Amino acid sequence: MSRTPVPFVDVPAMMRVHGEKLERALAEVVRSGQFINGPQVAELEKRMAARIGVRHAISCGSGTAAEQILLMALDIGPGDEVILPDFTFIATAEAVASVGATPVMVDVDPRTFCLDPDAVREAMGPRVKAIVPVSLFGQTAEMDRLEALAAEFGVHCLEDACQSLGARYQGRASGSFGTAGFTSFYPSKPLGGIGDGGMVLTDDRELAERIRLIREHGQVGRHEHRILGVNSRLDTLQAAALLVKEELFDSEVEMRRAHAHRYDHALDCVVTTPFVFERGYSSYAQYTVRVADREAREGMIAHLQLLQIPTALHYPRPIHTQESLRPYLRREVETPVTQELCDTVLSLPLSAYMSQEDQDRVIEAVFDWAHLGEDAAAASL
Ligand SMILES: Cc1ncc(COP(=O)(O)O)c(C=O)c1O
Repeated sequence: MSRTPVPFVDVPAMMRVHGEKLERALAEVVRSGQFINGPQVAELEKRMAARIGVRHAISCGSGTAAEQILLMALDIGPGDEVILPDFTFIATAEAVASVGATPVMVDVDPRTFCLDPDAVREAMGPRVKAIVPVSLFGQTAEMDRLEALAAEFGVHCLEDACQSLGARYQGRASGSFGTAGFTSFYPSKPLGGIGDGGMVLTDDRELAERIRLIREHGQVGRHEHRILGVNSRLDTLQAAALLVKEELFDSEVEMRRAHAHRYDHALDCVVTTPFVFERGYSSYAQYTVRVADREAREGMIAHLQLLQIPTALHYPRPIHTQESLRPYLRREVETPVTQELCDTVLSLPLSAYMSQEDQDRVIEAVFDWAHLGEDAAAASL
């Protein structure tokens, strides 16, 4: 049987839908010559603020830069601590360390894989200035409890919504919680561009103004720089591409959800499928399942690989074990749930335009793998 690889993210299918419009939008920017701060940037910011339900959306060069600039704007730096989950992409902690603050990694909820409010409470101390809940794989943490905790301790709640545009919690959009949220337009994200990009989302006008200054060298007028800044604008080309992608965003989230629910129904009896809060709404940035242990996972990866089905590990290591962060850690980190997840999670192919045929192949392959395990167990009796 001839087997073409199943794409992890079906980029050619996405380009069949968006390609022509993207080319026209990019050609328009090229003709205009307004490569920096063209009108598409302001238009995207307006649309995103309306979509998320916040007053201000400030675009910048990446999700990582969005977090760095936000921390700078809040004067979070040396001597300050920021609480974040140990189970996330490195960037969440990297941004904290890069402004001189101390990342404090705590454990996550084993159901949602997102920041555990009880672990946050335990880690609170006089140096803590912010908590950064990460809305992982398309679903938020318990944002009502985390916002309340932040208010109780007088610290900022800054949602890392890099993986969760399109998600909601108790009817509120991901990106709209706390003092501010930030997101990423990296191509594989739910709202992905054709390169790097990011955005900060907030209701706070003064904070928004500081962020606008910082992203552009702290400049208030020509050759006048009020505060120390960086260079992190969103390119006009990128904004133009995102305006095209944004038009079909809601329907793409619906498609992702339909694929995820199809996986749920088919796979629930052989793996642990993603848990979603009753009051939550996931945009399924990843479809990440759990298996019994590391050995079972290795078997599943190998079996799927044989059938030309790629998988991904989000994430194989707690971030506190990464060498780059070691010099910035000031406290003992104890995160058993994170370690357990790092050993047992596995992400399966999923994207908006994934074909049913490809999804059937993934489902069949997972079943095959599960039955191979049963046969081996029976043979050893
Ligand atoms: C949870 C999380 N935080 C931060 C980032 C950083 O975003 P970017 O790649 O746009 O810098 C990412 C994306 O890769 C992410 O998944």
